[in-house]
Amino acid sequence: DMAEKGGYDHFMIKEIHEQPEAIKNTLMELTDIEKIVNKMGNVKRICFVACGTSYHASLIGKYLFESLGGIPTDVILASEFKYSAGSLDKDTLVILISQSGETADTLKALRTAKNTSKTLAIVNVLGSTATREADYIIYTRAGPEIGVAATKTYISQLTCIYMLAGLLCKHGDLVDKLHEIPQIIQNMLDNEDYIKAIAQKYRDAQDFFFIGRGFSYPTALEGALKLKEITYIHGEGYAAGELKHGPLALIDDEVPVVAVTPPGESHDKTVSNVEEVRARGAHVIAVGAESDENLQSEAEDVIGVDDSIDEIMSPIPYVVPLQLLSYYMSVARGIDPDKPKNLAKCVTVE
Ligand code: G6P
Repeated sequence: DMAEKGGYDHFMIKEIHEQPEAIKNTLMELTDIEKIVNKMGNVKRICFVACGTSYHASLIGKYLFESLGGIPTDVILASEFKYSAGSLDKDTLVILISQSGETADTLKALRTAKNTSKTLAIVNVLGSTATREADYIIYTRAGPEIGVAATKTYISQLTCIYMLAGLLCKHGDLVDKLHEIPQIIQNMLDNEDYIKAIAQKYRDAQDFFFIGRGFSYPTALEGALKLKEITYIHGEGYAAGELKHGPLALIDDEVPVVAVTPPGESHDKTVSNVEEVRARGAHVIAVGAESDENLQSEAEDVIGVDDSIDEIMSPIPYVVPLQLLSYYMSVARGIDPDKPKNLAKCVTVE
């Protein structure tokens, strides 16, 4: 067992550490993705369908395709697909994202989408059902993932989506920038003790908020999902600008707030949301650029990410500290993060 875990205590932390390698391997899919893009021809509209962590990767896709390519993009939870997919047509590319390629809701949506539209499945497990049924397939190449909570497969899904967006939206620089991310993540992993200490400090909290805007909103959702899955603490991801329309009523000194604040267009607005929650007593953990002095003075704990990462690229490296925070809180609470109660790695029932 220990050998399988490569010296790590759990598969989850091993898989978190495999992320730089996972990105490098996923980048090797580029030529296959180029072939698919050439074959597919014109894409007028995109509709992502997925569940769980794969749904959060899809949300990043929406921000990318709409902001860089002006391609109208919907994101639908697979379990909601049949209630809201009425307007699909032959010019819509339906992109199904699934680590396992076996999630029942996602397969059902795939079968429905095939009646009207071109389908592309982004999948990690070779030969899985989704790969046999979709028109086009992209493999995430993260290697087998054992931990129930998805980590390296999420990072690989994002890598695929960025490559696809780079090609479809003609932004070659996205692919160049992806090559720099493995080293940036490695540097964060080398300093994980800092995050472990923050996790110790908040292990007894009962509620958490995760906030972000734009590209950081799905990151906030994913941070909250990781927390729920493996620590059993209630974590809620919220669009930072929406806090004032309800959740602010819940904020006090017992509800820590994690703010995702990369440099870019949304930065100053999210920092003012940090001020708002602090004024109500909240302890704030911010994830932002290393040399962001503003953040240093506003937040109680700041987790620094390489300054070169802008808002658009931030979803890939910025999720890593959130994964580590949940992992170390899970361990501090005596939970086995690899096998959270009530959850399954692959859900084959609707
Ligand atoms: C389960 C897993 C999650 C995963 C979701 C979707 O709930 O526990 O980690 O994100 O299914 O799975 P898929 O294989 O379709 O990506």
